[in-house]
Amino acid sequence: MKIAMFGATGMLGKPVAERLTTEGHTLTALVRPGKEKHVPPSCNIVVGDLKNRKDIRETISGCEAIYLSLSVAQSSTERDFQPEREGILLVLEEAVKEGIQVIGYLSSLVQQYQGMNGFSWWAFRLKNQAVETLKKHSIPCIIFRPSTFMENFDQGSYRQGGNIALSGTSKHPMYFIAGRDYARMVANALAKYKGSNVEYTIQGTEAFTADEAAKIFVSHYKKEKMKIVKLPFWMLRLFGKLTPTFNYGANIVEALNNYPEHFEGTNAWEQLGKPVLTLKEYAESR
Ligand SMILES: NC(=O)c1ccc[n+]([C@@H]2O[C@H](COP(=O)([O-])OP(=O)(O)OC[C@H]3O[C@@H](n4cnc5c(N)ncnc54)[C@H](OP(=O)(O)O)[C@@H]3O)[C@@H](O)[C@H]2O)c1
Repeated sequence: MKIAMFGATGMLGKPVAERLTTEGHTLTALVRPGKEKHVPPSCNIVVGDLKNRKDIRETISGCEAIYLSLSVAQSSTERDFQPEREGILLVLEEAVKEGIQVIGYLSSLVQQYQGMNGFSWWAFRLKNQAVETLKKHSIPCIIFRPSTFMENFDQGSYRQGGNIALSGTSKHPMYFIAGRDYARMVANALAKYKGSNVEYTIQGTEAFTADEAAKIFVSHYKKEKMKIVKLPFWMLRLFGKLTPTFNYGANIVEALNNYPEHFEGTNAWEQLGKPVLTLKEYAESR
């Protein structure tokens, strides 16, 4: 299959780009200048930006499918160009002209916390709106709603230098998933796609609170010694008043700590294959 990818250099885009190229798909990625080395060598690269219609057109030219692995940058504000708002609208306009048959989109489970317990955050509103825009569009879409990724411990938001930084109380266990398992599920979904909209809840096989998961990760991560540190949530909220990055951190922590995640992953397991990596195995393999 000829697939165009936006976000191939991201933490969660990389494993998907690797999997798609390993499976023999022809992958073309739009990559910002200086990021060329972050995609698999067999991937075709268009150096450019999602802000530019011409770069999008070049990336999707000759493709049948598009996969979107985008994010709200932690330092950005609602008024900035947002890849999942303006970017997706540009992609859709060009995708229609190109005759794209299916669009896969990495959404999330926790953004469903929007509106619960009076919680409201522009970034979740934007991400929920992106799902609605894709679902209403004439091109069929595959929406992936994953739980929390194991990658957060060594590459993502839990990691602060040599520490795993947690805040507040994580009330509900999360079904942590590894990027490698998710990537296999994305590849299977694109291969199986039958022409109508579909949504998959993507969850791993074990559920832990953030505190339980951090302990497992730290005790099995051999690459370096990491320490778990806890910041009182009120302090994170206070810092959040000072910078967009801390504000992002406070909102995501509040949502993750309070989102009552239930297991809804059976359909994805049956259709796309069951995840295999446990958190212990993931930590040992890094
Ligand atoms: N972390 C989790 O546990 C979790 C769980 C469920 C869902 N998710 C969702 O997963 C998504 C992706 O996360 P991630 O950690 O992979 O994000 P990320 O590392 O920030 O990746 C974002 C990607 O988008 C690209 N991008 C941003 N602006 C662009 C532009 N103007 N033009 C072209 N490319 C642009 C980035 O390119 P550069 O490399 O050039 O910056 C990067 O490749 C997020 O939306 C998140 O909500 C995450």
